[in-house]
Amino acid sequence: MNSEPSVARFDLSPRRDEPLLRFVTLAEGLTVQSVDRRRFGSITVDLASSSILRRAAQGRGGLLAKAILPAPGKPMPLVWDVTAGLGRDAMTLALLGCEVVAFERNPFLGMLILDGHRRAKAEEGDVGVAARRITVRIEDARRALERVDQEEARPDAILVDPMFPEGKGRAAVKKEAALLRALVAEGHNPEQDAELFTLALQMATWRVAVKRSLRAPNIVENPAPQATFTGKSVRIDRYSCSG
Ligand SMILES: C[S@@+](CC[C@H](N)C(=O)[O-])C[C@H]1O[C@@H](n2cnc3c(N)ncnc32)[C@H](O)[C@@H]1O
Repeated sequence: MNSEPSVARFDLSPRRDEPLLRFVTLAEGLTVQSVDRRRFGSITVDLASSSILRRAAQGRGGLLAKAILPAPGKPMPLVWDVTAGLGRDAMTLALLGCEVVAFERNPFLGMLILDGHRRAKAEEGDVGVAARRITVRIEDARRALERVDQEEARPDAILVDPMFPEGKGRAAVKKEAALLRALVAEGHNPEQDAELFTLALQMATWRVAVKRSLRAPNIVENPAPQATFTGKSVRIDRYSCSG
């Protein structure tokens, strides 16, 4: 991997005892890395990554598909991913055939996902087609949800995945989660998550899916999900909307 910056370098001042982060433009795209790369590694948004393609290849057997896709033969939904992060879920849904509006409120993550999206759109074949089904919006989804019906078309389904997980499992996953937490610099905020979910439930016409780690409590006490789909490390709770 080419690790030398080709054009630009931009250092973010560390907060508290967090790592010094740096944006660099590499051959593979805009990348955030910690100056101490052995501890935290680096992140480039790759919407054609093998893990995204593997999840999409599971088709209707995958967790997101089970939670969000309609029955075979029905039209594909317009999905708002209101917590886009690195765009993995948004791209998986787009590869499955959904139109997706992906919202990310953090401007640094916004830069990464916009860059990854631009590169994916230029690809030929399924990746390019799917990327062109995605609209990326760098803004707080709560503000857009508040404008639904006035300026915004109502989404059929909404995906909420509020927190970067603590990073259990493989070392690479832990490093990535630590780097993302430093970049986003926000702690877990259950009140904000509940507000986002409540708006989503009011504004979607059909269903809301909430990704949680396996043992996390439900995003709100009431209502309870109508269905839960459980994977190895996460589950997705599905709620129906009154529409
Ligand atoms: C766990 S990550 C999502 C990961 C994503 N599902 C993926 O596949 O890469 C959560 C992201 O949601 C963003 N976020 C949280 N609340 C938001 C809001 N109200 N509007 C837009 N983005 C939000 C955070 O900045 C963070 O990047």
